[in-house]
Order: sequence, then structure tokens, then C-alpha cells
Amino acid sequence: MDFIKIDTKLCNKDGICIETCPFLLFKKGDDGFPVILEYAETHCIDCRHCVSVCPTGAITIKGIRPEDCEPVCKTQAISEDAVEHLIKTRRSIRAYKSKPVSQEILNRLINIMRWTPSARNSQPVSWLVIQKKDIINKIGTMTAQWMRETELLPQIADAYDQGVDMILRNAPNLVIAHAHAEGFNPTADCTIAITDLELAAHAFGLGGCWAGFFMRAANSHKQLADLLDLPQDHKVYGALMLGYPKFKYHRIPPRKPAEIRWL
Ligand SMILES: Cc1cc2nc3c(=O)[nH]c(=O)nc-3n(C[C@H](O)[C@H](O)[C@H](O)COP(=O)(O)O)c2cc1C
Repeated sequence: MDFIKIDTKLCNKDGICIETCPFLLFKKGDDGFPVILEYAETHCIDCRHCVSVCPTGAITIKGIRPEDCEPVCKTQAISEDAVEHLIKTRRSIRAYKSKPVSQEILNRLINIMRWTPSARNSQPVSWLVIQKKDIINKIGTMTAQWMRETELLPQIADAYDQGVDMILRNAPNLVIAHAHAEGFNPTADCTIAITDLELAAHAFGLGGCWAGFFMRAANSHKQLADLLDLPQDHKVYGALMLGYPKFKYHRIPPRKPAEIRWL
């Protein structure tokens, strides 16, 4: 299989593939057709922008043809106002209905996150979805224990012992984003994935809340790490409680004004 094929019958020599390639792996040849540089194969990050952007569908890369890609659907574009409303109405949800979220919906949401950006397109995020109540409870208990031991807000641990769960909020699901610690930028990649997941979940009528206390405990508490049993050298970089919100929010709370410098 050729690394890349340019169909010269379709290529209109517009140079778009050259301008959009992250590592400039093409240049214009003497005849105007794009030429692949010799180091392209080793430097390509598999982003497939060349296949996606070519208006005439002239490029096939590593066996991926234009017809192998899902088409962009113009009618699905959402309005600026709808995006603004979606972002402004997302709230951290801390009270959930007991209604479970189906695996089908969770699967769909997590699969959408395959298209979130990642450093060098490394797509390093793996997911652990915890739905079993007894495991969520164990995680809450171990996090509380760790908070007491490390004196991080011990009052939250005390409340937990008295049946008030400020750690995982009795959420029916805990979704964890983990990645190899030696990756290019696992913190950013997992943070983006969880952030987009929370926003997408809101659009699906679900609600999420970052599980910050758990995240701090997850990579430090041996028993908790054993329970999660992540692949070797993986760490937790993001975690979201997820479920159907028990209450509706009727107003958008004010936020600080954006602090912007223009140069
Ligand atoms: C990294 C991170 C960790 C967080 N951890 C927690 C947490 O452990 N518990 C919690 O109730 N909220 C947590 N939150 C939610 C914030 O408190 C919340 O985003 C903030 O108060 C603003 O509210 P809003 O998300 O509804 O706009 C966390 C948020 C982030 C971004």
C-alpha cells in the first residue's frame, strides 16, 4: 500500500493540502501537483486533514480514501446563539436522579470524544466507566480516607462518613479519562476530552460534574489505584460524575467579566 496517493485526474492543483498539513509534508511540484516530501511517512501524525480538506477527493492516505470518511453535513451546523446558550447553561450537576444512563448513550458520548483535539493527534485518552454502585461507593470511601490522611478538607471526609457524599454526589456513573503518563500532553488531552464530554452530555439532557477530589486521590492512594487497575504507567487525568439532573436550572448565573488584553 502506498503511503499516499494523489489522483491526478481529480487533483485541481489548489495547494490546499500543502497549506493545511500540520507538518508541511507536501510541496508543490514543478507540474503543480502536490509532491510528498521524503520524510512525510515518518512525520505524518495520521490527522487525515489532507483527505478531509481536499474539495475534489483526490487524496488517499494509508489506505483511507475520501469515501471512507463520514461527510460533513451542512444542515447539522448549530447556530452561534445555540452554541452560546449550550455553553452558558451547562452547570456542574451535584444532584442526580436514580435513573441509570444507558450504556448506549454513554458509548455514543464517549465515541464522539474520539474527535477532540490531542497533542500531535496522539489520541491517548482511554476511558473507564464505573456504573456499579458498590464500586462507586468504594471509590468514595477511599477518597474520603485519603482526604482525611492528607488533611485535604477533612470536613468533607467527615461528612462522607455521616452519609453526605460531597465527593461523588451519589452519581450513578463515574467516567474516568486516563492516559499513559509519558505521553506528549496527557493532562491537556484528557482535560479536553472530559470538558467536551460534559458539554455534550448537557446537550443530551444529562448532567456532569468534575470529580476533583477523586482525581487528586486517584493517583496517590495505593488501594484506590489497585481498585481502578489502570494499564501500567497510566494515570487519571480527568473524571466526571454523570447522570440525569434531579433539578432544572432556571437562570444562568453571572460570571466574572472576561479579562482580555488586545495587542
Ligand atoms: C478541575 C475541576 C475540578 C472540580 N472538582 C469538583 C469537585 O470535586 N466537586 C464539585 O462539586 N465540583 C467540582 N468542580 C466544579 C466547579 O466547582 C464548577 O465548575 C464551578 O463551581 C462553576 O460552576 P458551573 O460548572 O456550574 O458553572 C470542579 C471543576 C473543575 C474544572
